[in-house]
Amino acid sequence: MDTVLGHVPPRVLVTRQIDPEGLATLRGAVDMRVWPGPCAPTPEELRRAAAPCHGLLTMLTDRVDEALLSACSELRIVSNMAVGLDNVDVDAATRRGVLVGHTPGVLTETTADFAFALLLATARRVVEADAFVRQGAWVAAGGWSPTMLVGAEVFGGTLGIIGLGRIGLAVARRARGFDMRVLYHSRHRSPEAEADLGLVYAPTLEELLSECDFVSLHVPLTPESRHLVGERALAQMKPTAILVNTSRGGVVDSGALAAALAEGRLAGAGLDVMETEPLSPDHPLASLPNVVLTPHIASASRATRRRMAEMAVENLRAGLAGELPPHCANPEAFRADP
Ligand code: DGY
Repeated sequence: MDTVLGHVPPRVLVTRQIDPEGLATLRGAVDMRVWPGPCAPTPEELRRAAAPCHGLLTMLTDRVDEALLSACSELRIVSNMAVGLDNVDVDAATRRGVLVGHTPGVLTETTADFAFALLLATARRVVEADAFVRQGAWVAAGGWSPTMLVGAEVFGGTLGIIGLGRIGLAVARRARGFDMRVLYHSRHRSPEAEADLGLVYAPTLEELLSECDFVSLHVPLTPESRHLVGERALAQMKPTAILVNTSRGGVVDSGALAAALAEGRLAGAGLDVMETEPLSPDHPLASLPNVVLTPHIASASRATRRRMAEMAVENLRAGLAGELPPHCANPEAFRADP
């Protein structure tokens, strides 16, 4: 691998074990350390391990902030194996001329599949029903009954999509197969999506929230989107509605959500992402039967995780070679070496 460092193999830290085939092209080409533990490094461990590195291949669990960047004087690229970059201070990286790569596009369909899986599982009480059978409640109930575990109708319902990026659009396409009316609220209006998929633009969040049976979140976590779904937004939703979140946990005020669900002001929630991850089993959300919880696995199909690893490696290699990474979040930090 030709790098801007000449013959010295660049030092690289990969902060978790990832798909080995994804990593294959790095082996032998760089001086690579893969963080050995089953858990993410603590900020202090990360700082120490990253300090001598020219490249970091990071995960959404790593905080790449000013403190970390200032400890890494030789760093050229941070390649984050995620589309979301809320764990990386991109502005701070740009100020230091450090490139930031990410993995957009490749996880779109997998994540949309999962958002729909959560929507269906929550509406049709799949997780509750599974426990009902395993724990003997079905036998105790004397068998089938017409009122057993009835849930919400998905087919023909109204779905609200907040954030019509790639994943929001992919969810909208799936909703067509369920004959759903789809509203969307987004920074940019999309006449194409309206024409092609029959989507209806909701100019305000309130309009969307008050009309929909299902609301699915697809916005990045930014200071503006933090707690976008809080007390006020929840009060605007129908009490029969279901909230699905596969974006970032911080978009929802989890305390307000737990209270709304517990008090019957909202029918259910399917959550793959939490404000604090990992979610403690003692969190109020974890005691509610009308919530389906999963551990941030919306993109976790084997094929997608491999592709994410490959993309992260492609970005890293480019950055180390003095090239613009194919998926760079801060091209303004790129300076072609003379
Ligand atoms: C991402 O890529 O941002 C997801 O949350 C993890 O796949």
